[in-house]
Amino acid sequence: MKTIILFGASSAIAQSYIEYIKSLKTDFNMISISSSKILNSHCDSHFETDYSISNLANIVLILKQSHIELHQVIIFNGQLHYARNMPEKKLEDINNEYFSELMQSNTLIPLLCLQSLLPLLNHTTNCTITALSARVGSIEDNQLGGWYTYRASKAALNMLFQTAAIELFRRAKNTKLLLFHPGTTDTQLSKPFQRNIPKDKLFTTQFVAEQLFELTQSKHLKFDGKVDYIDWQGKKIAW
Ligand SMILES: NC(=O)c1ccc[n+]([C@@H]2O[C@H](COP(=O)([O-])OP(=O)(O)OC[C@H]3O[C@@H](n4cnc5c(N)ncnc54)[C@H](OP(=O)(O)O)[C@@H]3O)[C@@H](O)[C@H]2O)c1
Repeated sequence: MKTIILFGASSAIAQSYIEYIKSLKTDFNMISISSSKILNSHCDSHFETDYSISNLANIVLILKQSHIELHQVIIFNGQLHYARNMPEKKLEDINNEYFSELMQSNTLIPLLCLQSLLPLLNHTTNCTITALSARVGSIEDNQLGGWYTYRASKAALNMLFQTAAIELFRRAKNTKLLLFHPGTTDTQLSKPFQRNIPKDKLFTTQFVAEQLFELTQSKHLKFDGKVDYIDWQGKKIAW
């Protein structure tokens, strides 16, 4: 059965994604992986993880032993703020702890998730692997400044995915990598920054989930060793 793996599955967007796929009444095998003990009854199995290399490897070993047919992977992980830290407005706001924390959760952990999948990939596997990025990770698009660390963490994620895409084209050529910007979506992550967003530009998680599903299933995707860095409309974002 075609399998969909969702890393960072406690994300509000991920939860709507699971609900949406279930509502389509397809027969995908859905697997959620998260630091939380979330129990979304719509997923066929759930693994709790600490995102260490060894723990991710153990999970993938179990999946390999059950001979799953990998169809799609989405990596939702990403933070913008937490108790002690908000995104920077000016250079003086930069601090080691916040920088290290976001580089870990937004950049390294998605890469380790991708790394863990290697035993499931080969030239005949046909699947897409998508990480949730953000438009603010675009260097060319940066007109406003601020948010140093979050921008850098997503820009670095983009670079790592492009690098991995080149390698995977040699090692598992029917694997397509994507970087997806959901637009400002009504979740805990964007809550403190929603005040100036026009109503029609603040998306529901349900809307974003549908867009994400349609775009990652598109027949127009090219398995060409390049990453598609796209927004919720499927429009390319400048690097
Ligand atoms: N909401 C927006 O407006 C918006 C805009 C642009 C981009 N995005 C991106 O979309 C993605 C999902 O965002 P969301 O709005 O759904 O956020 P959310 O509901 O706050 O979800 C947070 C996500 O980050 C993971 N996470 C949190 N702390 C972590 C840590 N210390 N280490 C590893 N993973 C950690 C969670 O994974 P676990 O399940 O393992 O806890 C979960 O996947 C993020 O990558 C975000 O940057 C969101």
